[in-house]
Order: sequence, then structure tokens, then C-alpha cells
Amino acid sequence: AHQADFVVVANRLPVDRVVNDDGSVDWRRSPGGLVTAIEPVMRANDGAWIGWSGGTDTDVEPFVEDEMTLVPVPVSAQEVEEFYEGFSNATLWPLYHDVVAKPAFHREWWESYVAVNRRFADRAAEVAAEEATVWVQDYQLQLVPAMLREQRPDLRIGFFLHIPFPPAELFQQLPWRRQLLEGLLGADLVGFQRPNNAQNFVRLVRQRVGHKTHRDLVYLPDGRMVQAAAFPISIDSAGLEELARTDAVEQRAKEIREQLGNPRHVLLGVDRLDYTKGIYNRLRAFGELIEEGEVSVEDAVFVQVATPSRERVEQYRILRDDIDRLVGRINGDLGRIGRPAIHYIHNSQPREEMAALFRAADVCVVTPLADGMNLVAKEYVVSRYDNDGALVLSEFAGAAGELRQAFLLNPYDMNGMKEVILAAMRAERSERTKRMRAMRKTVKENDVTRWATKYLDALSHVRPSHHKQV
Ligand code: G6P
Repeated sequence: AHQADFVVVANRLPVDRVVNDDGSVDWRRSPGGLVTAIEPVMRANDGAWIGWSGGTDTDVEPFVEDEMTLVPVPVSAQEVEEFYEGFSNATLWPLYHDVVAKPAFHREWWESYVAVNRRFADRAAEVAAEEATVWVQDYQLQLVPAMLREQRPDLRIGFFLHIPFPPAELFQQLPWRRQLLEGLLGADLVGFQRPNNAQNFVRLVRQRVGHKTHRDLVYLPDGRMVQAAAFPISIDSAGLEELARTDAVEQRAKEIREQLGNPRHVLLGVDRLDYTKGIYNRLRAFGELIEEGEVSVEDAVFVQVATPSRERVEQYRILRDDIDRLVGRINGDLGRIGRPAIHYIHNSQPREEMAALFRAADVCVVTPLADGMNLVAKEYVVSRYDNDGALVLSEFAGAAGELRQAFLLNPYDMNGMKEVILAAMRAERSERTKRMRAMRKTVKENDVTRWATKYLDALSHVRPSHHKQV
């Protein structure tokens, strides 16, 4: 079989499986930032990407797409329920996001998580060439680094967590806390979005596993060293700006404003429909501003795009019902003919349409209760090449660590949130420009390619060795 010098292991492949009318199967490139960042490294190293197709197909062979070898890992229907919907998205996801929803602990889910992680690790062990670099991604696969190292001590293994890593007080709740920490310690470098995530991890390793640590290093009894550090992820800044600058996008942005009735203020929210995103609080705040007469439906409208996500998980169904009801109530109480307060779109939109929405929005409202990074905030900033527009951003988004010139807020503080949204709507052009210019500089300099380069560079330096560089 083909062996690769660089291997990415992620829960999802960078393609979506599409079944044609005649029953044949095609793969369509899914628009992810991760693949954009990693693609150059993949091409240069004849790389392979191991992941789940999103379906329950069992018989898919590795194939080549866009010069990358893609290696599908089969996941059964029961595993989709227990490993993906269960342990990954109803246990780890809420626990790692500050328990904003209650995590469920089930022993069968854990067993399925172990089994699927083992399958990914076995596949990586087969696919990786001698002394290759393997980069494992995100919370669905935290056991893979140790499972892989056990079989292949020759490999250089990296791990990156895209979501927050919780403080010890919360992580402690997990019945399998020690196994997860030991899983991650199979990596040479454990990457996080923010420095405090890395600190949480090192502290837990010291307290719960009992290893020696110094600053961002963990010393294992066998002499190996593990580094834990922050690498804030980003977007393909140049690619998005280029799209935002096209005539088609500019035309569509104008058209959107007209279709909305040319209001003075267009506010925009864009999220996966997820309870960590603070969509409910944000829409309530906007509704209250109208109710209190601070804002009127004649001159302001809120566009909320919510992409369907993890729809079989109970907490997501509850959220959807809550938002449906809230939007209906606000529009019913406050809207007029031709002037709804909120335009709610529960759909995923093509990237051209997203760019046009960013161009059309005077204020982009990003209010997560907890978020590893939040790329929407960065996408809005990059789309505003006119140095206009206001970004309202939660302090609890990882992005707030870099985008200090945003209109920052605490999404739990309803009055504070209303004040900040109003301030963003009423800011002078000169102030908007000053803030936007500074943020644009940050995001353009620190794009996703820089992120991947910095991470892989750090990974290649963790242990002085004879290993191949990528
Ligand atoms: C977050 C996670 C990713 C995940 C994505 C979409 O960004 O960090 O690992 O792929 O959400 O969620 P889904 O469950 O559809 O893969």
C-alpha cells in the first residue's frame, strides 16, 4: 500500500460524499479552512488524509482527489450514535465548552469512542511511512496519539485541539479523564487555540497523571518530552478577500440590502446552529432594543444564518425549537408588513453568498458563550476591505485574544450586550475604520497558512532527532 511522509488524521475527510441520481457516488471538496492550510504541505510531501466520510459506508477504498490521497475510515450506524453523536458531541463538546449544556456520561459511548479511535490509529499506522509526521485533529480523536505511538514509536506525532480545553474543575468530572490525558500525551506537541487552554492541560497532567512539568513541557518517565502550546487558527485571508472583491459579490451585496428594504443598519449573525454560539441571547437582546424603542424595524434588521448541525443530538433539537419560537415571537410582536425584525435562514449558504452577506452587514454580531476560536469573526474582518463595518465579539471567543479592537462584550450580560450592540450601530465612520484597519492587519498577517507553518515548525523541533522534516 501507498505510504505517506505526512498524514493528517481528522474526524472528517475534506470532501463530502454525494450520491448522484443514478446511484453513483462522487466526492465534492468541502470548503474547510483546514484543508486550504494543509494542502501545500500535503502536495509537497505526498500526503494522506485519514477521515470519516460522514456516512455509514463500509467498503470505500483510498482514492486520490486534488492530488491528495484520501483514506476513508468506516463508521457504523451504531458508532455514529455512540462515538459521534454521543461521546464526541453530547459528552465532550458540552464539557469542553464550559458545560453551557449538561454533558451526558454513558459507558457504552466511551467504549465506542475507544473502538473508533483505535480504528483511526490503526489506519494511520498502516498509511504512515517510516519516521513520517502524523497530525491528529480535534476532540473526536484524543486517544489516537497514544494508540499510534504504541505501534509506531518511529513517528513524529502532533495533535491540535480546535475547541477550548476546560479548566481542571470541569475536566475532573469525566470518568475517563486519565485515559484522555494519556491519549493526548502520545503526541510530541499538543496544540491549543489559546495559552490558557495549554496551561489547563499541563496543570491537569501534573495533578492527575503525576508527571513532572516545567512551563509548557511535560517530562514523561520514559525520557520523552511533550510540549503544550497555543497556535490560534485562522482563515485563508487572501482567498476570501479576493472573493469579496469580485463584482458578482459586490452586486449581490447591494441586492441583499435592497431586498431587506434598504434599512440604515443591517446586523448579521452567522453560526452553526449550536448552543455554544449564544444565538438565543443575541436575538433576545435585539428584540429588547426594538421593544424599548432604541431601535426600530424601519431602520434596522437582523439577518441570522444558522447552518444545520448535529441534528440528531437532543440538545441541538431543543435549541432549534427555542430559536424557532423566539424568532416567531419577536417577528410576531414587533414586525410589520414587509418589515420583519429578524430574517432567519436555517440553511448552509455558498461561500459567494456568505461573502456578500459580510459585505452587506454594517454590524456582525458574534456572541458565543464559549468558542475555541470563531472563524466568522475573522471572515467578517477580511471581507471588509473598505475598512468599514463593526464587529461585535464575545470575550469568550478565542478570536477575542487577537481581535482586541472589536466591540467586546459578555454574552451573559443582557444589558451590557444591548449597550455594546447599540454602540457598534452608532459608532462614527472614523472609529469603525480605526478599529477595522487594526483588526484587518492582524488577520491578514496571521492567516491559516502561517498557523500550519508555525505548528509544523514547532512540531519538528520538539525532540532533537533524525526525523524527516516536513
Ligand atoms: C467544530 C469542530 C470540528 C467539526 C466542526 C463541524 O468546528 O471543532 O471538529 O468538524 O465543528 O461539526 P461536525 O460535527 O459537523 O463535524
